[in-house]
Amino acid sequence: MKILVINGPNLNMLGIREPAHYGRETYADLVEKIESYCKEKGIDCECYQSNHEGCLVDKIQEAYGKFDGIVINPGAYTHTSVAILDAVKSVMIPTVEIHISKVEEREDFRQISYIRLAAVKTITGLGTDGYLRSIDFLSDYLKK
Ligand code: DQA
Repeated sequence: MKILVINGPNLNMLGIREPAHYGRETYADLVEKIESYCKEKGIDCECYQSNHEGCLVDKIQEAYGKFDGIVINPGAYTHTSVAILDAVKSVMIPTVEIHISKVEEREDFRQISYIRLAAVKTITGLGTDGYLRSIDFLSDYLKK
């Protein structure tokens, strides 16, 4: 099983940005946590981060035929990007939407999620553990 974990803009600033929402772990800590969890579970994974919408679209397109599942935190593009939604719909790879913070309890502009329209599951508010729960969900989903 091959899973691609995609993080969008400003998630490379984890550990520095708004710790009350996103905690103290850095992006490097997050990658290490995901990689060691996947290793334990016998899952092949690749982590990718970009601040650029087009690069995120390219990465999703490149996943076609290569990955069985996608875990994506599109960051602020969650609330604006039809292009990322369309990319996920194009490749038809089962995708879990994950947010570190509890977006549903935050500002009104965070209540819209385009990616949700293509996601098989959404996980919010569990901190970086949400990535591991997303991988668990995908791994069960893909075995069915
Ligand atoms: C986020 C929530 C988004 O609203 C925000 O723009 C982010 C991070 C989260 O993980 O909680 O960059 O996706």
